[in-house]
Amino acid sequence: MNDLVDFEALRQRVGIKWARAGADVLPGWIADMDLPVPDPVRAALQRAAAGDLGYPDWEDRPDRNPLQEAFAERMRDRYDFAIDPDDVYVFTELIQVLQIVLQLMTRPGDAVAVHTPAYPPFLQTLEVMGRRLVPIPMIAGEHGWTFDADRMAEDIRRNDCRALVLVNPNNPTGHMFDRDELSAIAEIACRHDLFVISDEIHSELTHGRRQHIPIATLGPEIAGRTLTLNSASKAFNLAGLRCCVAHVGDSRVRAALDAQPPLLYGQVSALSVLATCTAWRDGAAWLTETRQTLTGNRDLVAESLPPEIRFHRPDASYLAWLDCRALELEQDPAVFFLEHAKVRLLPGPDFGPGGAGFARLNFATFRPVLEEMLGRVHDAAQKHLNR
Ligand SMILES: Cc1ncc(COP(=O)(O)O)c(C=O)c1O
Repeated sequence: MNDLVDFEALRQRVGIKWARAGADVLPGWIADMDLPVPDPVRAALQRAAAGDLGYPDWEDRPDRNPLQEAFAERMRDRYDFAIDPDDVYVFTELIQVLQIVLQLMTRPGDAVAVHTPAYPPFLQTLEVMGRRLVPIPMIAGEHGWTFDADRMAEDIRRNDCRALVLVNPNNPTGHMFDRDELSAIAEIACRHDLFVISDEIHSELTHGRRQHIPIATLGPEIAGRTLTLNSASKAFNLAGLRCCVAHVGDSRVRAALDAQPPLLYGQVSALSVLATCTAWRDGAAWLTETRQTLTGNRDLVAESLPPEIRFHRPDASYLAWLDCRALELEQDPAVFFLEHAKVRLLPGPDFGPGGAGFARLNFATFRPVLEEMLGRVHDAAQKHLNR
């Protein structure tokens, strides 16, 4: 990921991150990495593209997609989480799963709890589907992010919530919920009979030795009301292929899904299944190297920003949630840095309550790009402070 970087080649990319960056602008916005596709995945896709693009051999039985077995194996190997492959459903994207579950299991006006700030498409989903957002504020402590479990329980009770959307590791804060936090969340979910949609898409990009804990591993009661969502799209940088899996631990949700016509929600492509299975089977070396690179990048962000931009190093993934309030800008920080630093960030207000005054930076890029990006942000901030 280092040394010589061809900025022009990056600008020629068709992926949205660079294609929509704008002339002279460096993209630190959408959550794609600039890394090349892992070699084993590239080789598998090339072999298929060379003349093996017929119907896959599971086409007539969507319930026998090889990803079901592959995901069960991955959950067993990584987390000692024993799941039945028959309870794994394959979809094109996590947002689709959220929308399907909300459509099948809740009604307009029902309340859904989400830690905020939150991944913007989830907030937009609640809005377009007419479900009520019950925000659970993330709280910045001295050493990282947390939340108030008593307040969460009270807000869920008062609003008669039907579901909880848990994003763990969290986007945008990068917080990994620990066992105590997850136990408190599980207890609340069981007490208030919530469906739990646990988005664990960032779980394989941990920094250091911290282990991700799928909430469904905490016991049979929480497992029986949780959907565990994951994919290879973040960890192996394959988002354009559109593919994800959901382990549906809740038999009520399984029954609702099984009652639908089998192809109602479409079918993922053979190439996306091939890429995901290959990444999970043969991508360990790539993942180890990538995690090290990202940890180095994360630490560079921490060392390079002026003290007036505060952030907690994320426990996982490659997103830095920058608290720019001490800069006392007159504009939204993302607007300010686009204008004055030519760096594109995601605006904090898009992440809902708690987002004003913040911006999200994606640091999954090559060292020279990151250095240039951080230098520009630093200089623009300093100029503003010295005004
Ligand atoms: C928390 C979270 N969930 C879901 C997604 C989207 O996943 P998909 O690749 O399935 O669209 C993202 C992408 O950034 C994300 O950060």
